[in-house]
Parts: sequence; structure tokens; C-alpha cells
Amino acid sequence: MSFDLVLFGGTGDLAWRKLMPALFQAFRHGTLPPGGRIIGIGRDELSAEQYRSLIRARFDKVELAKRPNEDEFVGFASLLEFVRMDLSRPADYARLVGTLAARQTDTVVMYVATAPTLFTTVCEQLAGAALNSAKTRIVLEKPLGHDLASNRAINEAVRRVFSEKQIFRIDHYLGKPAVQNLFALRFGNALFEPLWRREHIANIQITIAEELGVEKRGAFYETTGALRDMVQNHALQLLCAIGMEPPINSHADAIRDEKLKVLRSLKPWTAETLAQDVIRGQYTGGKIAGNAVAPYCDETGVNPASQTETFVALRTEISNWRWAGVPFFIRTGKRLAGRDARIVVNFRPTPHAIFNSQIGVANRLVINLQPKDGLELHLLAQGQDNRRNSQTLAPVQLDLDFDKRFGSGRVGAYERLLLDVIDGRLNLFVRSDEQEEAWRWVEPILEHWSNDPQGLRLYAAGTWGPSAASAMIARDGFCWAEEC
Ligand code: BG6
Repeated sequence: MSFDLVLFGGTGDLAWRKLMPALFQAFRHGTLPPGGRIIGIGRDELSAEQYRSLIRARFDKVELAKRPNEDEFVGFASLLEFVRMDLSRPADYARLVGTLAARQTDTVVMYVATAPTLFTTVCEQLAGAALNSAKTRIVLEKPLGHDLASNRAINEAVRRVFSEKQIFRIDHYLGKPAVQNLFALRFGNALFEPLWRREHIANIQITIAEELGVEKRGAFYETTGALRDMVQNHALQLLCAIGMEPPINSHADAIRDEKLKVLRSLKPWTAETLAQDVIRGQYTGGKIAGNAVAPYCDETGVNPASQTETFVALRTEISNWRWAGVPFFIRTGKRLAGRDARIVVNFRPTPHAIFNSQIGVANRLVINLQPKDGLELHLLAQGQDNRRNSQTLAPVQLDLDFDKRFGSGRVGAYERLLLDVIDGRLNLFVRSDEQEEAWRWVEPILEHWSNDPQGLRLYAAGTWGPSAASAMIARDGFCWAEEC
């Protein structure tokens, strides 16, 4: 199946950091369908040769195992072309039409990796140039808007010119191997299903911790913050994957219908829960891996008096028969104590204790997303000290390391998602109604914060965030997994 992949934002940060490396990995793995072409779009006056050289130079920043050797790069570079475009000029789209017409491929993928303010323009211009035929797929990178109204406006503009089955809204967390494994764990095995409910589960914790700060994206982050950047999309998609009912089959809409139901069941906010159950923080200076790092307010592009949150912890519930009353805790932040994304499922204690002592949380399933990818099952066993028949229980752990089992050269999130777009598989992409529902739930938090300028708590870089996040979870009688 031949394809053209048109990359708007072809000289942008995402193209360098994620998309080109992912496309190269697919090329190396032999999974990129033959007969493909990748057309970078940008404002610079570049020849195809200059574009290839720029990409070659950027690969030096990619980890060694993922860099092409000379031969590999020659092969990959033969797929690359460049078209200079001003995205608001119809004449430039006419030139793109000419480039695409030179080969009549089976599929044309329009990947819009630009600022979201350009999404509507690009879609309208593509339609104006008749570049929205049924063989075209459009890929939109997050963030799709900054609130419900702007999200709707973008989705409506895109849907005026593309049908829903042509629209691929990316949330790269859904492409991570660990998230695929979560679906496999839940819907390919019967073992946990009877336990996956309020009668057996005490609480669920979703943590996406980053060591990185805002890097060179200070200006973008300043108007975005952790709630919009991570919670509205990545964290809520993880919550859906953990909380959804089994879909009736593996088709995209069957899965997306179930995720939508979870989002619709999220407990509505009240003045009280907004005040107590949502903590926002911002990092000050501190140490990451022994090196001093600057406070958020000193980062380039950031207002020195910034009120933008780099950390969020919150408590919510899914109000349905399966989950009523079970707290779901979400926590994400930049410049935290480690790079660590995981979901922790804490099971209820035994109803009656016959042993002398129990230590910490007895039964816990940890789904590690990154940097490790795997499962840990925590149980209690008879400890060493059985001389006095003390019957002291000790924690033990079963580790299932997917990197060891399946090898570390597994398909990365962007590689997987790009191949899915080319093949037309929508399962791992987000439907517009899911996005809207997520925005609807997040908006009261944003409104509350805009009337509560005192609520931002500082935390030192290299820690697990403000202590208020621990106090919040402690109110339910629980603690974050690294604390107990
Ligand atoms: C992006 C956010 O969507 O996800 C970034 O905009 C964040 O701020 C990134 O760093 C995290 O992705 P990953 O795959 O590195 O966990």
C-alpha cells in the first residue's frame, strides 16, 4: 500500500524529537509499508537535500541504539522530501497538490504537528485545495484547544471537511506498550476481572512523574500548565483504560464508547471537592540526579510571577456500579523525584486477621508504564522469623518484566501510532466526544483556580511535590505507593 505522509510542522520540535525518529524505527524494522514518501512542510526555503541534512544532524541527538548508520540513513533519506509553505496561503496548497499528484498513492496522511491555532486554517485550506478526499487521513496533535469551547470549535471545523473516520486525534500515551498491555491484562485474561471492582479494590493511583522541567517550551507551558498538558488527556485516558467496562469487541468505536462512559461517570465537582481534592503546585529550585536545577519561574519564556501549575494531584470517583466509592488518585508533575509512570491498584485487606502482624498494604498490583514496562504483584508470605512460630508476614513481590520478556527493541508509542494511521486503524485514537467530556470535567477546576490565586503550593525540584498531596490522600486513610 503506497502512502504519502505530509508533515506540517516538519521542522518543528515534535518532528525532530519524536516523529522522525519513530518513522526511522519503522523503516528499520521493515514495518513502514513500501512505496512511502515523507514530505516535510515548513516556512524555510530548504531543498530536499538540505532538509535531509538537517534531519541527519538531528539524529545525533537521538540515543545511540536508535541512530541510523550511514547505509540506513541513505535508505531512509530517499523517502524524504520538503515543500516550503506558508500555511495561510492558498497558492502554497496548490503547490502541495502538484507534489502529491506526481504520484497517486493509496493513502495520504496529513499530520498537523503545528500550533493548535493553525489546525482550523490547515483543514480549511486543505479542503479548499480538494485535499480532503476519502483516501486522506488527518492527524491532530494535542492540545486540541485550551478549554471546552475552543476544543469544540476545532473539532467542528475539522469535521466540516473530514469525516470522523478520517480524523486521528493523537494521545501518545495510548500508543505506549504498557497501555496495550493493560488492555491485554484486563480483556485477554479472566484472572483479575472478578476482583476488578469496588468490593475488592480499596483505591487506584495513577502517577505520571517527570524529572524534566519545561525545557525549551516555557512560553507554551506558561499558558498550558499540568492540568491541560497531562491530566485532561494522558492521565484521563489511563483512568479510562483502568476503569472501563470490557468492550463488546476490539473495534475502535466499541472501545471508545466504553471510555466515554467512564468520562461521563466521573463524579461532578462541588465547591468542597474543588477546595479539598485538587492540589496544584509549582517547582522551585532543587536537585535532580545531584545537579542543581532552576525554579520554574526562572525558566526561559516564563513570567517570574507565574501562577502556572507544574504539578497536580487530585482525587475523583467513577460513579457507577463497578466503582462507586473507590477513590481514584491522579498525580502528575515536572521536576519530581524520578521519571516514573505507573498505575497502582491497592486491594482491600483481608476481612479478618488471623496472623500476628501485617505490614503496609498487603495486596497491590503495580502496572509500570515507564521507564520500566511490566507488572508487579505484591503479596504477603510467611517471613523468615518462624523459630518462635511468630507467624509474622513479610511482603514479597512477583515481577513480570516485559522488556526482558519481549526485548527492549519493542515498538515505541509514536512508531505504533504512525503505523496505525497509515493502516487506517482508529482504536488507539481519541474521538471528539471523549475529548469534549474530558474538557467538561476539567473546566470547573480551571474556573476554581482562576478565583483562588492563593492555592498554588511550591515544592522543591527533585521531591514528590507539595506535602498537601500527601495530606489529601491521607484524608481517605491511604498514602501514595512510595510512602507505604
Ligand atoms: C506531552 C507533554 O504530551 O507528554 C509533555 O506535552 C510531557 O509536557 C510529555 O513531557 C510526556 O510524555 P512521555 O512519553 O515522555 O511520558
